[in-house]
Amino acid sequence: MRPLLLLLTAAVASLAAPAGAQVSGCDICHGKPDFKRVLQSHRTQSLYVTQAQIDSSIHKGKRCTDCHVDVTEIPHRKTPQPVNCVQCHYEGNTVGAPQGDMYQKFRESVHGQALAAGKPDAPACQDCHGTHQVRSHKDPRSQVARANIAGVCGKCHLEVYSQYRTSIHGVGLEQGKAEVPTCTGCHQEHGIRSHLDPQSSTYAANIAPTCANCHAAEGIVGKYGISSEQVGSYKESFHGVASRFGMATVANCASCHGVHDIRPPEDPNSSVNVANIPKTCGKCHAGANANYAVGKIHVAPRDPKSGIVYWVSSFFKWLTILTVCGLVAHIILDLARQVRSRRS
Ligand code: HEC
Ligand code: HEC
Ligand code: HEC
Ligand code: HEC
Ligand code: HEC
Ligand code: HEC
Ligand code: HEC
Ligand code: HEC
Ligand code: HEC
Repeated sequence: MRPLLLLLTAAVASLAAPAGAQVSGCDICHGKPDFKRVLQSHRTQSLYVTQAQIDSSIHKGKRCTDCHVDVTEIPHRKTPQPVNCVQCHYEGNTVGAPQGDMYQKFRESVHGQALAAGKPDAPACQDCHGTHQVRSHKDPRSQVARANIAGVCGKCHLEVYSQYRTSIHGVGLEQGKAEVPTCTGCHQEHGIRSHLDPQSSTYAANIAPTCANCHAAEGIVGKYGISSEQVGSYKESFHGVASRFGMATVANCASCHGVHDIRPPEDPNSSVNVANIPKTCGKCHAGANANYAVGKIHVAPRDPKSGIVYWVSSFFKWLTILTVCGLVAHIILDLARQVRSRRS
């Protein structure tokens, strides 16, 4: 993004400031609405930035040089360096920026690591939060507001974003449903890790718990008429049990449902639609046919609709209860007999 030519001709008297003092007068050039430059990509970039813009953001009252700390003279001869937000935003700061471990989390995240390694397309704070218009995520105009964040991630993760937008979760977001996950609902905000990292919320063994945050909560998915039993029935299934015992090759929620393209079973494009079962199960079970999943997946033993599984599990439940009752009755009767025979 090196600039090709500068569109500025204004001759400005040197306003060199004494060392250590804040320079001002940025508005002499940057306060002109048509002040811009042409980038190497031939796109023009506006260089119009005013104190009023800053004052309408969360950083009200911050001066230009609070962020652009390396601009120490006017005109500035060297191109200013990218702003380092962490100069104020770190745990234990005394300038009034929010406290928390999010900066530490960011540093350890896949993005923070990529940034530290000098990868050119890795996001810094400003890539998600914006520059002069930073706002609290509670403000709907914020780049990181719930409705906007997927689009921000999507600037760099285009393929994933386009899948997500047509998924049940993405469509729900578009419709303003408060309970569906946006990117950060599964990946977190600052602590995003590679799916190959065992500490990641999207690491194979952690996917079921991540989905369970919502899908095991009646208060969340129940609102949409979706059973919260799916997680429990997965855990009790062969796949779920084997996965908990550390078998990495069995199916987790995403192996069957997909990840960014999750759709309801009725949707013909869903990986769990009957028509696609041979392909989905066939990834791991050679020769799986359309009936392969019938009665095998999400069978909740407590639900009469589960048919034979319900009756068999009910039979064993009542057998256990009756056996225990019989045992207890036997003990009581035996005790009573002993007491009676001691009295006589
Ligand atoms: C004499 C006019 C002038 C004044 C006054 C001025 N600038 Fe600039 N500024 C420029 C020009 C010209 C550019 C484009 C430089 C380039 O493309 O390399 C620029 C670019 C910048 C950039 C963009 C750097 C980048 O490449 O992303 C920042 C940040 C900046 N100025 C900050 C300031 C601050 C802060 C002040 C006040 C302390 C200030 N400027 C005062 C002329 C000025
Ligand atoms: C809250 C911190 C902050 C403040 C305050 C701030 N800037 Fe910036 N500015 C940034 C960031 C972040 C960028 C994006 C480029 C980068 O990372 O340095 C930027 C970029 C710029 C650019 C390049 C064009 C653009 O929009 O990307 C100019 C010019 C600029 N700033 C001028 C100013 C001027 C003039 C002021 C004071 C009126 C000011 N800035 C105040 C953070 C700030
Ligand atoms: C000069 C110190 C300083 C710099 C540099 C700075 N900030 Fe801030 N930031 C603050 C302070 C102080 C607040 C709290 C403002 C308030 O609550 O009124 C804040 C608030 C915020 C908030 C909102 C927090 C909330 O809970 O609502 C975000 C987001 C934020 N900053 C992001 C950034 C980003 C991104 C950058 C870099 C482009 C940056 N900041 C640079 C001092 C700074
Ligand atoms: C990959 C995108 C991304 C990056 C990079 C990122 N953030 Fe955030 N940040 C978010 C999102 C999304 C939220 C909103 C969290 C929520 O909804 O609770 C957030 C929230 C915050 C908040 C809480 C204030 C608020 O209410 O908006 C602060 C402060 C903050 N970020 C600062 C930073 C700083 C400083 C950096 C760089 C070290 C950074 N962030 C890097 C996405 C990002
Ligand atoms: C329903 C939960 C969920 C949502 C919502 C979600 N992801 Fe993912 N994401 C995952 C899981 C699980 C994986 C790991 C997949 C695997 O193991 O192959 C993953 C993998 C990824 C990967 C790495 C693998 C790849 O395909 O490149 C990226 C990048 C990614 N997600 C970005 C995003 C972005 C951007 C969004 C929002 C547009 C998003 N995710 C929304 C669960 C989710
Ligand atoms: C400015 C571009 C940019 C933005 C914005 C961005 N990312 Fe990334 N992201 C990257 C890059 C580059 C990498 C790869 C780092 C590497 O190769 O080590 C990455 C890696 C990832 C990974 C790990 C991929 C894997 O292998 O599992 C996930 C997950 C991810 N990003 C999710 C997100 C989410 C969610 C957001 C929004 C909150 C987001 N990203 C915003 C550039 C970006
Ligand atoms: C933040 C909460 C949340 C997370 C995390 C989440 N979901 Fe969802 N999911 C929902 C909500 C809410 C709906 C209902 C949306 C609607 O009906 O519009 C839904 C819908 C679905 C549906 C469609 C069900 C139907 O019959 O309509 C499937 C399948 C699904 N999710 C699977 C998953 C999987 C697999 C994961 C983990 C990779 C996951 N979800 C993570 C909240 C979540
Ligand atoms: C072995 C493949 C497989 C695994 C693993 C799996 N599912 Fe399913 N899922 C299916 C199939 C097939 C259907 C549709 C038929 C059915 O309900 O049995 C389905 C249906 C669903 C539905 C829709 C039910 C409804 O009421 O509309 C949800 C929600 C769901 N699964 C969530 C999950 C979650 C969360 C996990 C992980 C804890 C998971 N699934 C694991 C194959 C799987
Ligand atoms: C990611 C790979 C994977 C996917 C996808 C997958 N499974 Fe499995 N499944 C396994 C593994 C590994 C076992 C362990 C034993 C084996 O190889 O049969 C297993 C075991 C089973 C078992 C119990 C053992 C048996 O053979 O009777 C059933 C039932 C089953 N899967 C059904 C399904 C159905 C139905 C689907 C599709 C909806 C499916 N699986 C998708 C990997 C997978």
